[in-house]
Amino acid sequence: MAECVARELSADLEAVETEKPVDLKDGQTMKDLTFGAWLGKLPKVKPPKKDLSAYDMVVVGAPMWAFGLASPMRAFLCENRGRLPKKAGAFSTSGNPFGGRALRQMEKYSGIKAAAKLHLREKEIKAGGWEKKAKEFADRLR
Ligand SMILES: Cc1cc2nc3c(=O)[nH]c(=O)nc-3n(C[C@H](O)[C@H](O)[C@H](O)COP(=O)(O)O)c2cc1C
Repeated sequence: MAECVARELSADLEAVETEKPVDLKDGQTMKDLTFGAWLGKLPKVKPPKKDLSAYDMVVVGAPMWAFGLASPMRAFLCENRGRLPKKAGAFSTSGNPFGGRALRQMEKYSGIKAAAKLHLREKEIKAGGWEKKAKEFADRLR
């Protein structure tokens, strides 16, 4: 999804990286990650490699964890809030159909109102055909 949107907008792509792994590898369980996210625990994230203030738009994309924004993205937005460009797009993915909360949290933690938003369910991604929605989302940001 991120690669598709970046390609459509001829944009640079940067992944949020945490200091220590925050995923299902490295001995962490779904329960650890879900409770951590639910309790609002924020992992330490690495500083972005790119100079965020040099861009005129940022598109933020992340999965939903514990019915909210995945904690690595939440930490990234909180830490880089002052450096983000003023125009933004936001997309999220989840197992359930209620993506609105993760998208609202992206706006809350970045301090930017998204010019376009898109939520996709895992089911839709696996079934294919999501590229059309991703392209329409990118079009709304041009
Ligand atoms: C720790 C954790 C918590 C999750 N919590 C939720 C949730 O509350 N609701 C939901 O619909 N999906 C939840 N999911 C599923 C992810 O949102 C879904 O697998 C994700 O969109 C896949 O994106 P990714 O491949 O970029 O990780 C969770 C996944 C993980 C790893």
